[in-house]
This record gives sequence, structure tokens and C-alpha cells, in this order.
Amino acid sequence: MRKTTVVGMMLAATLAAGSVIALAEDSGALFKAKCAMCHGDEGQGKMKFPALKGTKKTEAEIVAMLTKGGAEKAPHTKAINGLTADEAAGLAKFVKGLK
Ligand code: HEC
Repeated sequence: MRKTTVVGMMLAATLAAGSVIALAEDSGALFKAKCAMCHGDEGQGKMKFPALKGTKKTEAEIVAMLTKGGAEKAPHTKAINGLTADEAAGLAKFVKGLK
């Protein structure tokens, strides 16, 4: 009985925080799958690829880069293939949140 209540409360708390956390986790997973091979697991940069931690680009600029293109899109063509607008926005937030 008591255990059920505790589990119920935890479930409610999890659900409340769920949507925000799910977005962050998805973006983290997406980053690992699509970006980390060049930019490193924590966006620390790797060999000739720039670090994303502390980038001067704004979230909007990153979204534009991942969706609209321009010169900087070139190395990203494969990574962003099939990326949705929501995923691009999530990734931009994730990149800006790297510390
Ligand atoms: C094939 C390797 C590669 C992959 C995969 C890759 N990038 Fe990049 N990224 C680069 C290179 C190279 C640059 C530098 C481009 C330039 O300066 O013109 C760059 C630059 C950037 C920048 C700009 C950094 C700055 O401060 O100027 C951001 C932001 C970025 N990448 C985000 C991402 C995200 C998000 C992903 C995953 C969807 C990703 N990249 C996947 C190679 C890659």
C-alpha cells in the first residue's frame, strides 16, 4: 500500500517533468548519433572539427545552419539529412547548453 503511493507520486512527478526532459534527452541522443563523431561527445571538438561548447552562434543561427544551409551547411549535409525542424531546434538548444 505504502509502496504503491510512493511509486504513484514518483510517476506523477516524472510525468509532469516528462515533456521537457524527453526533449532534452532526445536531443542528447540525436547529438551523439549525428554530431558527436565530428564534434565530440560533449561538443568539445575533435581533431580538425570545431568545439561547439561556448559557440558564439545564437540558437537561431544554429537552427538556420542545420536547416537552411549556406557555406557552413556543407560538412553537415549527411548529419542533417532527414532532420525535422523540431529536432534542429532541440539540437540548437542542446548545443547552447553544452558546458
Ligand atoms: C562530418 C563532420 C560533422 C558532423 C557530423 C557535424 N558537424 Fe558541425 N561542423 C563541422 C565542421 C567542419 C564545422 C566548421 C564549419 C565552418 O566553419 O565552415 C562545423 C561547425 C558547426 C557549428 C558552428 C560552430 C561555430 O561556433 O562556428 C555548429 C553549431 C555545428 N557544427 C553543429 C553541428 C550539429 C548540431 C551537428 C549534428 C546535427 C553537427 N554539427 C554535425 C563538421 C561536422
